[in-house]
Amino acid sequence: MRYLIIGSGGREHTIAWRLMQDSSADTVFVAPGNGGTDARFRADIEVNDFPSIEDFCISHKIDMVIVGPEAPLVKGIVDYLNDKRIPAFGPSKKAAMLEGSKLFAKNIMKKYSIPTVRHRVFTGKAALLEYVKEVKTFPIVIKLDGLAAGKGVGIPETREEAVEFIHSTVKDETTVFVEDYIDGEEASVLCVSDGTRIIPFVAAQDHKRIYDGDRGPNTGGMGAYAPAPVMTEARLKFVHQNILQRTIDGMKEEGIPFKGILYAGVIVKGDNINVLEFNVRFGDPEAQVIIPLIDGKLGDLFQASVNGSLDRISISFKNMHAITVVMASGGYPGAYEKGMEISGLDLISDNVIVFHAGTTGSSGKYYTNGGRVLNVTALGTTLREASSTVYREIDHIRFNGAYYRTDIGHRALE
Ligand code: GLY
Repeated sequence: MRYLIIGSGGREHTIAWRLMQDSSADTVFVAPGNGGTDARFRADIEVNDFPSIEDFCISHKIDMVIVGPEAPLVKGIVDYLNDKRIPAFGPSKKAAMLEGSKLFAKNIMKKYSIPTVRHRVFTGKAALLEYVKEVKTFPIVIKLDGLAAGKGVGIPETREEAVEFIHSTVKDETTVFVEDYIDGEEASVLCVSDGTRIIPFVAAQDHKRIYDGDRGPNTGGMGAYAPAPVMTEARLKFVHQNILQRTIDGMKEEGIPFKGILYAGVIVKGDNINVLEFNVRFGDPEAQVIIPLIDGKLGDLFQASVNGSLDRISISFKNMHAITVVMASGGYPGAYEKGMEISGLDLISDNVIVFHAGTTGSSGKYYTNGGRVLNVTALGTTLREASSTVYREIDHIRFNGAYYRTDIGHRALE
């Protein structure tokens, strides 16, 4: 099989690595890829440039396209390629609305009794500011409706912070939600679906805040681990039946079958589990810990999802623990410099996998090229073992301003 993966992050490097490693693929191209992609297999095409992706697929005889990030999915890349008879893994444009519009997702959840956090919808600044005047308890959660590259959620702790967030992000025509704040533990529960069935993955936990102790501003994710013990067997069963499968059934009922990766971001508080958000692709950095734990061929899952034959597939998960720590550029998630030379990658021991994210370069000379630069990843028979391995090895890797959290996995390790 010849695959083309769309995207440039650690998630896409992980998918490419796994397809080659488990012999799912003969050849894997990545567009645009990063320093982790062998330069011969990088396609210099932007993720939303559908005609150039189509041309590349034809000229390079691509059998299947795997779409990593949400933006091209929400813009309809799967429909576009399917119209040209190019198989593509991921949801259709309409199905991707589960991530593209929080209001659409909320309506599906309401209609099909999928547990989610209570919310109110507002259009524009004025109505929201009026509401915020009356709020009695903070924090509250304010979410913008469309894709906002991680910047569409504010959790103001005071009325003043809420007003500041609204003035800086909400325009007069913006659809906004206010949700109750739930002080629970978050987890990412993902599955692959063929439109009818699901195969769930091990649950993971991301660390969204920049600083240790889950403090500071939100990022795209500073590290993850799996399995996440907060998702006990009973809780997982609940999520599989009442959230993931019920959503797939509901989408089918709506005439919008969902194929691809369905990611439920859930919050657990005592016996209550609620959906915070749906994503329609692998999480990043969750993919970096889920994919290495899969026992089976990743390519088989992609093909069975596209062909509607997940019932013919069975995969299991290694009885191990995985952890990934993100090395970021100094200043991220604010302004940061690029072009810092990365050293020490050759000193890393063989039991650690370094997935590239914001890097450029090739043949052993690599430079920073983004906020999240590298994902240093290890497996162990326990989470503690995996964590010790990562934190022992990460010290070998250097670049000016390098920053990483030192407490990834703390909830499970404490
Ligand atoms: N790690 C969070 C996300 O991928 O959306």
